Amino acid sequence: MLEDKWSSGFFIGLLFRLGQLTGDSLYTKEARRWIGKIEPYKTQGDYQDIGFLFYYSYALGYDLTGMEEYKTIALEAADQLFDSRLPGGYLECSWLPEGKCYAGVDSMMNIQLWLWASRVTGRECYRAAAIESARITCAALVREDGFTYEYRRMNPATGAPEQPFNKNAKFGAESVWARGHAWALYGTVQLYVWTREEKWRIQAEKLSGFYLSRVCSDGVPPWDLMLSPEETVMRDASAAAIACSAWFQFAGALDSDDPLRKQFCNAAERVLQTLSSAEYIPSSSGHEGLLVHASTPLHVVQAPGESQIWGDYFLLEALHYSLEVGS
Ligand code: GLY
Repeated sequence: MLEDKWSSGFFIGLLFRLGQLTGDSLYTKEARRWIGKIEPYKTQGDYQDIGFLFYYSYALGYDLTGMEEYKTIALEAADQLFDSRLPGGYLECSWLPEGKCYAGVDSMMNIQLWLWASRVTGRECYRAAAIESARITCAALVREDGFTYEYRRMNPATGAPEQPFNKNAKFGAESVWARGHAWALYGTVQLYVWTREEKWRIQAEKLSGFYLSRVCSDGVPPWDLMLSPEETVMRDASAAAIACSAWFQFAGALDSDDPLRKQFCNAAERVLQTLSSAEYIPSSSGHEGLLVHASTPLHVVQAPGESQIWGDYFLLEALHYSLEVGS
């Protein structure tokens, strides 16, 4: 389970969410059986994806079960990540050579652990760190037109943004990695949900607008948003599931008479229906997960159309929030 470290928490999160949705304690029991495998990573503060790892396992586990032990462990991971902030407040991309010189889009997800830590402890320092890290990351990676870069080199002496860089997309810095863009959108929505600051609402709209202008006719994006949707051989249903859950949560945070609420609920509903169809959840696919065409970037794809654990997780999470928003 822990071979692909950044995504291992989603397996635990999936089990907790299944327990929440079905009321069947078997799932929660299984989550409890596996969760300890993740704990040893809590001391790796310089690995920014411990935000992914610990938010969707221990932090979510605490929210859904109230187990104090999970809270303690998630806070230890949050503190490690907090202590490893680089001068300027952004997070190291430790998987890149010279990772300390890059701001990366995944940070927008990893800071969720701090938003959660601020919520459960009431400590302002976590909230301030999340907002500052997101501000710097977005200034470096989100363009005015809603286009996103995966990474940008930051001047190690001054912290000033330098040239952009893409690892997981087709056309280098001219590309938009669909999953990375979905991470930026999802993280922005979390910031809006937990701070209610207008700038995050505006950014969520901007990122959604760009994304929606690039999706295929069924509402699922090409794996690189700059590929022509008509010619695309590979879509990324996992990015669609991430955006879908983000939109339900965004809609849920907006006032009931805000026209955007309906707009984002409709967008999310449409994607949820598409992803629930036999094309995306076939009765037998030969892949381990449920949601197929959840492509990861081309250079790491094992088999065309494959499933990914985070695709299944966000689809289930979207279903949960669709029930909460009551659409
Ligand atoms: N590290 C997060 C991702 O690859 O999407």
